[in-house]
Amino acid sequence: MKFFLFAASPSKNSLNRKLTSIMENELKKMGHEVDHANMNEFALPLYCIDLQNEQGIPDTVHTFVSRMHAADKVIFSSPEYNSSIPGPFKNLIDWVSRIKPMPWKNQDILLTSASPSIYGGARGLLSLRVPLDGCGSFTFPQTYSLPKANEAFDEDGQLIDPKRMESLSSLLDSFAKTHITREA
Ligand SMILES: Cc1cc2nc3c(=O)[nH]c(=O)nc-3n(C[C@H](O)[C@H](O)[C@H](O)COP(=O)(O)O)c2cc1C
Repeated sequence: MKFFLFAASPSKNSLNRKLTSIMENELKKMGHEVDHANMNEFALPLYCIDLQNEQGIPDTVHTFVSRMHAADKVIFSSPEYNSSIPGPFKNLIDWVSRIKPMPWKNQDILLTSASPSIYGGARGLLSLRVPLDGCGSFTFPQTYSLPKANEAFDEDGQLIDPKRMESLSSLLDSFAKTHITREA
């Protein structure tokens, strides 16, 4: 099975990028194929209908959709900004939603997050689920949020706490094994 992993952070020291790297390794160990991207690859202007009418949808948006659609399943790891979705990620979701037919429809998506807070960015995932479900994606009911993520990784980028690694691995396994029924 092929996975598209996307860390929705532009930061080179991103905690969410560290989390997606761990997930990439774990999925590969399970025998899956992985395409791994981050927000820096998809810098976009702020969505504006005038801009879309005048210049069309940027190639970057089509590239994101092609990479997402090349996978069987999608995993997002998103920072939480002010208890919600980071603006650049919501902007990307909005740009993607302007392509017809709706690219988000029937996408099989697992939501994860990492944050220095004790909640690990879990509140942001509640917000992230809303537009994705609204656009027709199937967001997996369980999520994974890594609390105190600034202290959670060792020098090699591995999770220090084996219990956190175990629960992440178990969630990835359940997500990989759950098959959704798509419309014909
Ligand atoms: C504008 C802004 C708002 C933030 N709001 C929250 C928040 O509501 N909850 C939280 O846990 N962390 C918040 N943070 C801290 C981020 O979780 C932290 O910067 C984290 O490292 C971002 O993820 P990244 O390292 O993958 O970029 C905020 C950071 C910024 C820049």
